[in-house]
Amino acid sequence: MAIPAEDASLTISPSQLRALRDETERFLREYRFGMQEIETKLGILREEFEHTHSYNPIEHVSSRVKSPDSLVEKVARKGIEPDFESIRATITDIAGVRVTCSFVSDVYRLFDLLSRQDDITVRRVKDYIAEPKPNGYQSLHAIVEVPVFLSTGRVEVPVEVQFRTIAMDFWASLEHKIYYKYDSQVPDRLLAELKDAAVSAAELDQRMERLHRELHGPRPGRVVAV
Ligand code: GTP
Ligand code: MG
Repeated sequence: MAIPAEDASLTISPSQLRALRDETERFLREYRFGMQEIETKLGILREEFEHTHSYNPIEHVSSRVKSPDSLVEKVARKGIEPDFESIRATITDIAGVRVTCSFVSDVYRLFDLLSRQDDITVRRVKDYIAEPKPNGYQSLHAIVEVPVFLSTGRVEVPVEVQFRTIAMDFWASLEHKIYYKYDSQVPDRLLAELKDAAVSAAELDQRMERLHRELHGPRPGRVVAV
């Protein structure tokens, strides 16, 4: 069923409205299940890693499914056909999981451990740590597909997983607030300060990692590739 465009004048009956609501809920539910699968995988890695290596590479995990409002806004902004099939095919961040690690090496290690699982398909990777965005933003983004088993069969659900350090997360949340406050019209002076702060955050990450290595030796609990 097509989602009515905002400017279309149409009459919709209560039963059609209910059907649309049910279909939207079913559509979003699959993404929630996909997100839960990824959360479970990360939870297992975290717990098992802690027991096996006495070391926890994950500081924090947060996740969300896009709200219907924000989904509709993105569909309009990107000029996507407002039907579920087109949305499914083009919007890959409906389910999102953010993994905050202490160190950059943990970011790559976690991504590696997750992406090597044989039910996971990596669809796209954007490494904004190796190549930060012009504004200074750093994180490792991956679109992964995870199978979800429903009563009707197996579906592959795309989930956007963002891996970053605590320092990168601190920077990104402040930058987000500043953009929101200035309604994207951030003064140049602040943009320059933000960029500078991103460089400081990256330097801090490097120093902390060096200290951490001195304390624990190179890569505690190092995973040997098989
Ligand atoms: P969207 O269509 O907006 O999701 O962008 P994209 O498909 O080009 O994806 P990209 O991987 O570049 O960014 C996706 C997500 O990363 C965003 O929704 C934010 O959560 C985060 N992100 C990307 N760039 C920035 C940034 O400059 N600042 C902050 N704070 N977050 C960012
Ligand atoms: Mg997004």
